[in-house]
Amino acid sequence: MISKIIATGSCVPDICLTNEALSQWMETSDEWIRSRTGIGARRLAAMPEPDANGCIRTHYGDSPLFTLAREAAKRALSMAEAQKGLAPEDVDLILVATSSHDELFPALACRLQEALGLSRAAGYDIVLACTGFLAALQMADAYIRAGVYRTVLVIGAEVLSRFVDWEDRDTAILFGDGAGAVVMSADPGHTEDGAGILGTVLHADGAGADALTGRAMYWNERMPAAIRMDGRAVFSFAVRRVPEVIRELLAGEGLRPDLYLLHQANYRIIETIAKKLQEPMEKFPHNLERFGNTSAASIPLLMDELNRSGSLKKGQLLCLAGFGAGLSYGAALLRW
Ligand code: COA
Repeated sequence: MISKIIATGSCVPDICLTNEALSQWMETSDEWIRSRTGIGARRLAAMPEPDANGCIRTHYGDSPLFTLAREAAKRALSMAEAQKGLAPEDVDLILVATSSHDELFPALACRLQEALGLSRAAGYDIVLACTGFLAALQMADAYIRAGVYRTVLVIGAEVLSRFVDWEDRDTAILFGDGAGAVVMSADPGHTEDGAGILGTVLHADGAGADALTGRAMYWNERMPAAIRMDGRAVFSFAVRRVPEVIRELLAGEGLRPDLYLLHQANYRIIETIAKKLQEPMEKFPHNLERFGNTSAASIPLLMDELNRSGSLKKGQLLCLAGFGAGLSYGAALLRW
């Protein structure tokens, strides 16, 4: 038994905050942000705006994370229905990777189960920041291989902008909101076209945990309600560990991926990883210039864009790789 991605979907908020607009009230510039990160704009569930005293205020509607996740999931399910005849009752499990919950509980997956009418599906959430989607994908793949479930809806969704400290220009420039989803299904034959998940690897490096934290959910006077990051430490971690985990994934297979779908955190990180792998930048599609770092949503969001634009060809070998708070990192290999 092998698992296969049979459909994709994504959704980003309409509100767009460009580097130029951000520079109106933050001491930064389009040139600084682009040259350090490659980011030009980010989509946000609510626009941050300075009040009369210069304090940054944002006004979110109800459940912005739920709204984005539901829309991305709907689009993936519609594609699965149109192309594979998938019915709502075929979905056995919903896995949501997110670190920016609207509410501590219930799990967002349970809210989505009702909203999407997936009558038979179980569901729960996975918290692993930017590596969350890869963790959920690995779990879905393992369940399907083991025969526990046949069809799993995997969603990566974030509204991290809620937890950004807009006074901290090191982190505030990086993050955007969004959601991406894939439908994974069992393929008992695996003979037709060889498509499916070929391998996954996931690691934790808790010794580096303090380099990237988000303590907003445990807010009290001693813990600032915001994402904190040692940017240089995270940068070095990513450019060391991601090539390592990709080599581990490919080890012994003698395979050379056609495309690398990396977590969209920073263009310079992607460039350095490409160099270390001795692969050309053409193999590393990216959309972080438009969306910033959407954390657990970034890989499925990129995958959906590529899928819908016809850029993914049948038979192509794709390597997905991500990293983030934990510190955590992982990779997956699949044939499209
Ligand atoms: N605009 C203008 N100047 C800024 C700035 C901003 N948004 N943010 C920081 N600076 C300033 C700093 O204060 C510092 O000034 P100083 O030299 O007077 O102290 C200077 O720019 C250089 O800061 P530094 O931290 O050395 O910059 P950098 O080249 O390391 O870039 C990051 C900072 C955050 C862009 C970079 O470290 C990075 O991208 N790291 C990875 C982060 C990441 O991807 N996190 C998510 C992982 S999932």
